[in-house]
Amino acid sequence: MCGIIGYVGNRNAPDVIIQGLRYLEYRGYDSSGIAVWSGEKFDLVKTKGRIADLEKELLKTPVSGHLAIGHTRWATHGCPADRNAHPFVSYNSRFAVVHNGIIENYLEIKDELQKKGVVFTSETDSEVIAHLLESLDHGDVKRAVLDATARLKGAYAIGIICADDPDVLYAVRKDNPLVVGVTESDGFICSDINSIQKFLTEVVVLENGQVAKVERGRVELFDFDGNDVEAKFIALGSLEESDRKDFECYMDKEIKEIPTALANAIATYRNGAFNRIDKKYLRRIRRINVVACGTALHAGLYGERMIKKYLKKIDVTSEAASEFRYGDPKVDDRTLTITVSQSGETADTLVCQNMVRNLGGKTLTICNVETSSMVRSSDYALFTSAGPEVAVASTKAYNCQCLVFLLFVLDLARLRGEIDEFAYKNLQADIDALPEIAARTLKVAPQVARFANKNYTRKSVFYIGRGLDYCTAMEGSLKLKEISYIHCEAYPAGELKHGTLALIEEGVLVIALVTQKELVTKSASGLEEVKSRGANVLAITPFYDRPAIAAVSDYRIKLPDVNEDLYPIISVIPTQLLAYYIARAKGCDIDKPRNLAKSVTVE
Ligand code: G6P
Repeated sequence: MCGIIGYVGNRNAPDVIIQGLRYLEYRGYDSSGIAVWSGEKFDLVKTKGRIADLEKELLKTPVSGHLAIGHTRWATHGCPADRNAHPFVSYNSRFAVVHNGIIENYLEIKDELQKKGVVFTSETDSEVIAHLLESLDHGDVKRAVLDATARLKGAYAIGIICADDPDVLYAVRKDNPLVVGVTESDGFICSDINSIQKFLTEVVVLENGQVAKVERGRVELFDFDGNDVEAKFIALGSLEESDRKDFECYMDKEIKEIPTALANAIATYRNGAFNRIDKKYLRRIRRINVVACGTALHAGLYGERMIKKYLKKIDVTSEAASEFRYGDPKVDDRTLTITVSQSGETADTLVCQNMVRNLGGKTLTICNVETSSMVRSSDYALFTSAGPEVAVASTKAYNCQCLVFLLFVLDLARLRGEIDEFAYKNLQADIDALPEIAARTLKVAPQVARFANKNYTRKSVFYIGRGLDYCTAMEGSLKLKEISYIHCEAYPAGELKHGTLALIEEGVLVIALVTQKELVTKSASGLEEVKSRGANVLAITPFYDRPAIAAVSDYRIKLPDVNEDLYPIISVIPTQLLAYYIARAKGCDIDKPRNLAKSVTVE
């Protein structure tokens, strides 16, 4: 949700900024821009569209310098347009600013500045920051930054450069991620370590309420009152980079990586992850709240069902983070709130995590990014170890989130004496086989591609499932919507008849997940109902040859046999492939679907 980056140093700043922006593009791709200090003025190049479009603009208007900031935007205030692209330069051209987040009181500040004669050129909330800085600058840039910060309400990560301080980058963090780093001859600020890691061996991850002053070889940190704060450097050694290599796109690569990701998740988890959580506390838990967004929420819904099955003495609820916050959640010292997140930066989830801690509850995050805000501000963390995920539509992270959630539930059940050793050991053995089963499941790819090539023009699709299959239906449906723009709904198979069946007619595709033995007959009758109303049915099931399923499905994708509780980790794979192949057949931008961003850092 907007990526920001800044550079000061001996390299050509625009080169560093462009390289960094390519990494940050997953955070938004409505527009991008760069401001470079030429020695006399800020050269500004910005454009609607992708980083590639900005690069084309830079070929037409080359810029160079040793100090620059850059931005890639996911539009909130103001449509995607050149005029709304960052950076913004202040009215007397002293400050250039990039911003990630939302300035909630921007209208009030804008009004004040307009009354003083300041002319605004965009509809964004962010532009006020540049003008506010200029209006508060009385010869001390740091003071102006602190005074501006005191006026701003909302969530923000801001990068600032000033004509009066041409060897300095300023960065401000409140609720949105920000990282800084230096070498002898460079200084960097950015939203995500990945965009600068190749230049650095260590970074400082800013905490909320901190301001950084970054020069070549030097980082100074302050709190919002201007008091010095110690800068804690963390080593970058273990960070991985993701290279698309020969794959058609990142989503293709990331789906194919599922077996490896699952193997890594198991290895990381078994390497003492559970033991690092306070056992005394785990025995006392009475309630678990599961909170997440998007794909991670679907993994949370699976986790909820596993808790219901294996931890009978614990009450559990799961909710979208954006709703949980306003739903008067029950939290006390025996309540554990589990957040699930690929990025660890999703604002809705992060806010909930902080809220429950303030209410006296403990938090556990199941997260893919070890340096993320969620990991750093949670009581406990379990890492999904899926490796970097670049495509906006989450795939391998989901499989790993479900897996790690299950591993935790099983260990918790064992600790509390709620699962017998035999069942526990059997499940662990089944889990060990998951990477290999996932690899076998991926072999359906050509069949799914053929199906996609014949069905990509569908206008309406329903995903249905009962029990655990409903979680997978929701995730399959989200994937299809996200990247192929086909209208798709997920329904509990038994619920369709209570209204939504009215939408079933010829040309509608119904995709049924049928993996739970007990529910086969009931699922078959549900399918009968949609088929007799003209829908075509695709069944994703291990019960391939069961006459009940064969009779009601037009197409079938066979799943390998696996323990029933583990199916969501496996049965989602054909749905991920299907979304991918349908989007490909439609010619969609698979890794960067319209209107979306991978990391949504605004509420
Ligand atoms: C965004 C992405 C989704 C993702 C959700 C949660 O909306 O587009 O793909 O599932 O955020 O992200 P998280 O990083 O918290 O898992």
